[in-house]
Amino acid sequence: MGFMYIFLVACTVTVTWATIYDIPFRSCRGIPGPSAIKVNCSSFERETCTLTKGQTYSIWANFTPQINVNAVQSSVAWKTWVEMPLPGQDADGCNGYLECPLAQNTPTTFTYPLQIQNFWMRRRYPIVWRLKDANTDIKILCFTFKILIT
Ligand SMILES: *[C@@H]1O[C@H](CO)[C@@H](O)[C@H](O)[C@H]1NC(C)=O
Repeated sequence: MGFMYIFLVACTVTVTWATIYDIPFRSCRGIPGPSAIKVNCSSFERETCTLTKGQTYSIWANFTPQINVNAVQSSVAWKTWVEMPLPGQDADGCNGYLECPLAQNTPTTFTYPLQIQNFWMRRRYPIVWRLKDANTDIKILCFTFKILIT
């Protein structure tokens, strides 16, 4: 009986975590964009992914590199009137977030755990994500999407 109860609770938690949303995104001018962006948002309303402070969310970006790349630099910023980098993010895209090296014309997925820090402002803002070849600075992926931090 006790075992059954634990089993059911475990299943419920798994289902809650499995809510992964297809996120509307924009590409950036002149830079290759993704084919899909997915995030396990807390909720998804009015085209905006809600993220709760203290939680970690997975960002999945499917894309097809147009060149071969050995080392990838990742950056993510709030896109307000000036861009402000999200503090504390790992810039090494090959540090487990991608299968490096990237091969030209071979679809791949960038998977990044985004931890929502308690000191980030509670509001709605677009963020912009960029991946570039760390050796040549060639831009390989860029996209923006809206998040709401609560
Ligand atoms: C989102 O998914 C990641 C990886 O699957 C998991 O570690 C994380 O806890 C999930 N976040 C939420 C809020 O469910």
